[in-house]
Amino acid sequence: MLAPDAPADPFGTSAAQARSAVLERLIHEDPGRFRVLTGDRPTGRLHLGHYFGTLHNRVRLQDLGVEMFVVVADYQVLTDRDVADDLTGHVEELVLDYLAIGVDPARSTIFTHSAVPALNQLLLPFLSLVSVADLNRNPTVKDEITHSRQASVSGLMFTYPVHQAADILFCKANLVPVGQDQIPHLEVARTIARRFNERYGAGAPVLPQPDALLSGAPLLLGTDGTKMSKSRGNAIALAADADETARLIKGAKTDSERHITYEPAARPEVSSLLLLAALCQNRTPQEVAADIGSAGAAALKKTVTEAVNEYLAPIRARRAEYAQNRAYLRQTLREGNERARSVADATLAEVRTAMNSDY
Ligand code: TRP
Repeated sequence: MLAPDAPADPFGTSAAQARSAVLERLIHEDPGRFRVLTGDRPTGRLHLGHYFGTLHNRVRLQDLGVEMFVVVADYQVLTDRDVADDLTGHVEELVLDYLAIGVDPARSTIFTHSAVPALNQLLLPFLSLVSVADLNRNPTVKDEITHSRQASVSGLMFTYPVHQAADILFCKANLVPVGQDQIPHLEVARTIARRFNERYGAGAPVLPQPDALLSGAPLLLGTDGTKMSKSRGNAIALAADADETARLIKGAKTDSERHITYEPAARPEVSSLLLLAALCQNRTPQEVAADIGSAGAAALKKTVTEAVNEYLAPIRARRAEYAQNRAYLRQTLREGNERARSVADATLAEVRTAMNSDY
């Protein structure tokens, strides 16, 4: 709920939506002029909210011929203290999910943040280009700070958008697929690129100003009717098996109205289940609702369970295969890291030349 004096569009969503429509056209015309940077903090297995929110869209862009870099943000994840204990395990789970959904290491570079020194070195000049006031204004950082259950805000947390700027700009990505909460972070990356070019570019800009590509994906709710999130225990993992999926959906919150209709505002839980089935079956939630009619919540859940399990079956089978092959997993990361390092070294060299510090 927005406070009464809050701006109606605090993230600049409507401008980003209009721009994204233009970008979609350009991508279809000429995918080769785009480079995407995207990624995740390795917090464990990815779930259906991630999948229909962003992962699916990444594979779509890759398959359209857009070059893609995928960062496993293993430094950023240190802001979530509770997941830092089994970092290797979390990184491997994440890479398994990527491979299972169809991220293809031959076309897309999967790398871990910490293995690319030149990327991290960009942080220092970038930090000099933003003020504490710039960072204090960032609504997403504010929100993350409010929701983190930590006693104090670390410097790492406070400078989060600057790391993201380094992640994006080290490979000169010009396109970043995001949800609307990430728009302010991307604005920081744009500001840093612009200020760097103004200060050091002398007529020859070094860094592109990346665009946000907003996905039209609607928000999937978790089984308790709030935003799907691993930490809330309401998520269905891509890697869950068919029985676990059935159990989770069986326990999902619905309402007491027997006739099933798609009304996201009035019936958020039922509507999100309809949406999930619809996304898996490539039809509209209204069509799914019409099929169920007055058969009630039990029939709805049965439909959703079957739809999810059928949709995820090939992804789960691929994941199980890759999980048997840890050597391939490690090789994928090694090669991705090598490629990211060579790209980062080249950008850092340009940055140092521009800054007059290439001794
Ligand atoms: N912060 C993102 C997350 O929370 C992951 C991420 C790291 C990222 N660097 C990025 C996303 C750069 C987009 C662009 O999962």
